Amino acid sequence: MSHSIATRLQQHANTDFLPLEGTDYVEFYVGNAKQAAHFYKTAFGFQSLAYAGPETGMKEIASYAVRQNKLTFVFTTPLRPGNSMADHIYKHGDGVKVLALRVDDARKAWTETTARGAVSCKDPVVLKDDHGEVVVSGIRTYGETDHYFIERKNYKGDFLPGYQTWESNYNPPETGLQYVDHCVGNVGWHQMDKWVKFYEDVMGFRNILSFDDNDISTEYSALMSKVMSTGNGYVKFPINEPAEGKKKSQVEEYLEFYNGEGCQHVALATNNIIETVTALQSRGVEFLKVPPAYYDDLLDRVGEIDEALEPLKQLGILVDRDEEGYLLQIFSKPVEDRPTLFFEIIQRKGAKSFGKGNFKALFEAIEREQEKRGNL
Ligand code: FE2
Repeated sequence: MSHSIATRLQQHANTDFLPLEGTDYVEFYVGNAKQAAHFYKTAFGFQSLAYAGPETGMKEIASYAVRQNKLTFVFTTPLRPGNSMADHIYKHGDGVKVLALRVDDARKAWTETTARGAVSCKDPVVLKDDHGEVVVSGIRTYGETDHYFIERKNYKGDFLPGYQTWESNYNPPETGLQYVDHCVGNVGWHQMDKWVKFYEDVMGFRNILSFDDNDISTEYSALMSKVMSTGNGYVKFPINEPAEGKKKSQVEEYLEFYNGEGCQHVALATNNIIETVTALQSRGVEFLKVPPAYYDDLLDRVGEIDEALEPLKQLGILVDRDEEGYLLQIFSKPVEDRPTLFFEIIQRKGAKSFGKGNFKALFEAIEREQEKRGNL
C-alpha cells in the first residue's frame, strides 16, 4: 500500500462532516435481559450501571446497562409479545440492535445523514431528567441494525434519562476490557459494496483496508471484507460478505442463523491481553483455538514482540504485524446458541490493521467448529 492507514485517516479528517467521538454504547435485544446482564458481569467483568423498566416508567421493556471502562453494553427485552422488539428476537435470536455513536450534535448528525440518503429510525428527540438532557437520533444500517447518535454533553446522569442507577450486591472484578475497537457487519451476497457506499456517502467514512477471497480463503470457504473508518479512526466498521467456496462459508452460516444481515462481532480493546484473556477464560468465556504449530514460526513471521511466547501459546492468542506495529488478538466462540455473535479481544501495539496474517489459521479454526455443528 502506498500510504499508511494513519496518513489516509489524517487526510480524511479535514473533510469530516460527521465527527464521531467514539462508540457510546452497544444495545442488544435479548430474550432475557436480567440473565444476559448477569452473564456479561460474571463472564466479561462488566459492572452494573443503570436499569429501566416498569419501576422507572418504562412499562413495556426491561433494560440493563453495564459498563467497563469506556465500554457500555445495554441488554433490553420486551415484556410482552406482538411488537417489533419481540419480533426481532424471534427472528434473529439475541443480537446487536443498536450501535450508538457519541456526537457533539445529534440533530446535525441526523440532518446530515438523512440529507445524504439515510433512512431515519428515530427523529431527534430530547430526553430529560433531573441530571440534564440527552439528544438522541437514529438511522438504519444493514439488516435490522440501527445507528443512534447520542449527544450527552448536557447530561450528568449514569446512562440515559428513563434509567435509574442500578445498585447491585454482586460486583465481580473487571477483566481489563477498555473500549470498542471495531464492530463488524455481515451482509448478504454482493451487498458489501452497497454498504461501503452507504458508509462513504451517508456517514463520510473511508474504506481504509480491503480483503478479497485471495486473502481470506481456505480449502472450503471464503469471504470478502472492507474496513470503513471515520476520519479520526475512533469508529471502524468492517463489512463482510460471503464469497464462493467449496462449502458453506462462516458468513453464510451467520446469515442463515441470524436470518439476515447483522453484527458479526464486536472487538473489545485491552491494554494487557494476557491478563484479560486469562481472566475471561477462568470465568467461562470460550475461545477459538488454532493448532499449536501456529506458534512454531510465529516470531519469524512477526519479528520481536514484548510478550513471552508461552502464555500466548497457552491462551491461544494470535499475533500479526503491519507497517506501523503489531497487534495481539483472540476470538471467542459464539456467545449464544445460534452461531451468530462473537467477540474479539484485541491489544494494539502500533498496528492499525485487523490481523490479516491470522485469517487463514483462524478461519480453519472456525470451520472446525462449523463442521461440529453440521453447517460446513
Ligand atoms: Fe475484528
